[in-house]
Amino acid sequence: MLPPRSIEARKKAGRRNPMNSSVYVTRLIPRPAIELLEQSCSVDVNAEDRVLGKSELVEKVRGKDGILCLLTDMVDQEVIEAADSAKVFANFAVGYDNIDVDAATRRGILVTNTPGVLTDTTAELAWALVFAAARRIPEADRFTRAGRFTGWSPTLFLGQDITGKTLGVVGAGRIGTAVAEKSHGFRMRILYHDIERNPDFERRTGGTYATLDTLLEQADIVSMHVPLTEATVHLIGRHELKKMKKTAILVNTSRGPVVNEKELAEALENEEIAGAGLDVYEEEPKISAALMRLDNVVLAPHIGSASVETRTKMAVMAAENLLAALRGETPPNLVNPEALDRRRK
Ligand code: GLV
Repeated sequence: MLPPRSIEARKKAGRRNPMNSSVYVTRLIPRPAIELLEQSCSVDVNAEDRVLGKSELVEKVRGKDGILCLLTDMVDQEVIEAADSAKVFANFAVGYDNIDVDAATRRGILVTNTPGVLTDTTAELAWALVFAAARRIPEADRFTRAGRFTGWSPTLFLGQDITGKTLGVVGAGRIGTAVAEKSHGFRMRILYHDIERNPDFERRTGGTYATLDTLLEQADIVSMHVPLTEATVHLIGRHELKKMKKTAILVNTSRGPVVNEKELAEALENEEIAGAGLDVYEEEPKISAALMRLDNVVLAPHIGSASVETRTKMAVMAAENLLAALRGETPPNLVNPEALDRRRK
């Protein structure tokens, strides 16, 4: 009987060596991930700091064994069909609505994402937007820089308190849970809504399950944390905004199409809600002119996971997922296990 280490070594030797694999990285990502890929693959990186057009992407993926892509790459059926040798699309994001996963699965291509490492960073941005909107910080900053601060005033930039208020979390996954946990110092009542009750969320946060209508009616802060699916497109629109309190704040750090941007702009303009904080938009990078004009909305350029530490972790995680797939292993963050049976050899 062989000692366990030799068994492990023999297993490794039996696995496919990705040494001759060719990998395409669709945009510059933190260096440690590129170095990791370069240790065992030939790596081609889009060195320009811009999103590739569809026809460029189609050209670039041809003949590549693995593709490390970003949420800004529309990996649709056409791209997947062009990826004639691809074994894996490793997405540098937790969300993977940019990839036609069904088309990939049909062709035996594995799809991976980067969950977990960006949870706290994104939850922190949600809170940053809550405070920025509730205390009108960007508006106050613009005012101060414009030289308009002429002295303390009892009525200058009155906002909304957070402590002791009701937080409504829509989507009780990892990020929604982290947002709720972080509210504990503010002694908030927590309501949450999801397609079903989540005992883990309740245990960790003390939150109470509510229908979406009840949450919208009672929450002072509504924070969106659902994935983008057919069921969540325009989950928040005119009807839902009308249910919210006039003093309430809506924050969206999930995906733009979850909120009907036009109807949100109308609600903000008519002061049907007090404010909003957005990190994501329906047609990124476009932002509707109606939103741009308003002072009671804080607009961030999709930076939920944008901390030095987290973006490095995401890049390395995506590279590790990709390498595992090329070695013939099951990648740690596989989103389409159904593809394993059909995977390309
Ligand atoms: C960012 O939006 C992500 O999905 O990681």
